[in-house]
Amino acid sequence: ATLNVSTTGGNASSPLLYGLMFEDINNSGDGGIHGQLLKNNGFQGDTPGLTAYASVGGTSLSQDATVNLTTAIQSSLEVFVPSNTTASVGFSNSGYAGVPVNAGTYANYFYIKGNYSGTVTLQLVGSTSGTVFASHDVTVSSTSAAWTYVETSFTASQSPDGDNVWQLLFDGSKVAGSSLWFDLVQLFPETYHGRFNGIRNDVGEFLEAIGGSFLRFPGGNNLEGGSPSTRWKWNETIGPVENRPGRQGDWNYPNTDALGLMEYLQWCDDMSLTPVLAIWSGLSLGGGIISGTALTPYVDDALNELEFLLGSTSTTYGALRASYGHPAPYTIPYIEIGNEDNVYSGCSTYASRFTAFYNAIHAAYPSIQIIASTSDASCLPSPLPSGVWTDIHHYESPSSFVSLFNEFDNYPRTTGYGIFVGEYANTKTDSGTQLVWSNASAISEAVYMIGLERNSDLVKLASYAPLLEHFGLATWSPDLVGLSSAPNSLTGSVSYYIQKLFSSARGDTIRAVSADVDFGPLYWVASSTAGGEWFVKVANYGTGAQSVTVRIPGAGGLGGTAALLVLSGSEGASNGPGDVEVLPVGSTVVGSAEAGWTFDVPAYGVAVFTASPA
Ligand code: AHR
Repeated sequence: ATLNVSTTGGNASSPLLYGLMFEDINNSGDGGIHGQLLKNNGFQGDTPGLTAYASVGGTSLSQDATVNLTTAIQSSLEVFVPSNTTASVGFSNSGYAGVPVNAGTYANYFYIKGNYSGTVTLQLVGSTSGTVFASHDVTVSSTSAAWTYVETSFTASQSPDGDNVWQLLFDGSKVAGSSLWFDLVQLFPETYHGRFNGIRNDVGEFLEAIGGSFLRFPGGNNLEGGSPSTRWKWNETIGPVENRPGRQGDWNYPNTDALGLMEYLQWCDDMSLTPVLAIWSGLSLGGGIISGTALTPYVDDALNELEFLLGSTSTTYGALRASYGHPAPYTIPYIEIGNEDNVYSGCSTYASRFTAFYNAIHAAYPSIQIIASTSDASCLPSPLPSGVWTDIHHYESPSSFVSLFNEFDNYPRTTGYGIFVGEYANTKTDSGTQLVWSNASAISEAVYMIGLERNSDLVKLASYAPLLEHFGLATWSPDLVGLSSAPNSLTGSVSYYIQKLFSSARGDTIRAVSADVDFGPLYWVASSTAGGEWFVKVANYGTGAQSVTVRIPGAGGLGGTAALLVLSGSEGASNGPGDVEVLPVGSTVVGSAEAGWTFDVPAYGVAVFTASPA
């Protein structure tokens, strides 16, 4: 195929087009990106019990709801030491399917109550091998009158696998016949940008490499709650973690909410992501829908959240933000009202619920871009208030994504209107079975993304979902990135590498392309920057390689050597932990703007061509 890229005209491309969508699903938050590695550390969620804890040296453990740390952290771990004990005893915590132990420094915090003066030993140990990867003594003096907080740090050596526990040991002879209590044990590896209570550095860097522009959070379903009272509540996710009660998340496991509102915004700041904040809209997943005047307290709550984020320090909630260490207001340019309000019987009341939130937020913060959580006109107010954008989600099969290539080509364009493709991913094969990571499915997403980019005057934001899974703890598959507790387990799906490829080659103007072939199996989009770079993205959703010549007639000053990044693999090729076989490979191609640059796009492949000024 010959692609002639026009050097005149074109549409402005959305500068934020490619971004990230995050919610705590598949232990992507607790046990995933959040740095805290120990599970059930505050006995949160519906049925915490002794999940993840085990006795060491013959102690008896119990969840003690009569000895609480705070009104939020309502239980503690009682460690009873039998009479006549003389050894070092204590308890262990096995983390999220093992504690990842890498060579490096760990910060460790815990609360202790009960009469004890002496050494406490903190260890990282192979649970099957018994190998000790870290052992650190700290001197503790605690009483039964009050909680004693201990913070310390230590270094660990590399564990060969993720089969590790963290354990806390003390001199059993000093406690024999009685108990000690522990609460909110916390273990952090190096965090991204060195933040306290931060996200993991390794995960942060892996996601940063995508080069996304925005972060949609905190859901997704996990915003909504099984019932209105169990929705994600912004004000229970802020301040010291000791004050965060956590909740039973919508993905059937406890959320500690240690990754809370301010941590999300710190993630945005540190990764230069524009926040897209989701606000609860009155819809919960169990069918509890709040509408009409009953919604007023929830609208007020959203305004309180915005005062917390945006208000001056002379306001009630702005002052609260300052007291938590962030006197400067945040910047919140985008707010989405709800999530998928077209489903779970939400549609019939969404127009009125949306309007209640929209009116209040828009009146107080007219410059915030409001996004409705569905593009289904039958669920939206009619007319849609001018300037409101709408969200659309696609979980598809590969052939559906290919046929959605032109979804937005003839979509109505109205001044001020924009589309957010807030979630998209292949979840099923063409025959309807559950899809697993595969090259061809990712290439079909690339075809769809080319369609989005071609229409990025209208499509302002787009994010693959879900972002992250803890392999083995996941209930939704596939996800863009996976990890486990084993070393170097962070793995990008083929879709991850495509997101990265597309994010890193963005023009500000989408250029018309005239071609000597129709779309299919080749799909393309061309763009340019004000700085004189030209990008052409080409996807081949076909079984044979295709020769492509890119010409940019009239583009002066370009170098003869252009850069090419090509990703390809067999239809079913996949990436897996420690086995990443499909990823972009760089090369150069020599040609000229007039004669063109010719290269092959392999079967089930994607090529990103970049011509730069000489
Ligand atoms: O991404 C997984 C889920 O898919 C989201 O939580 C929800 O919005 C959608 O149904």
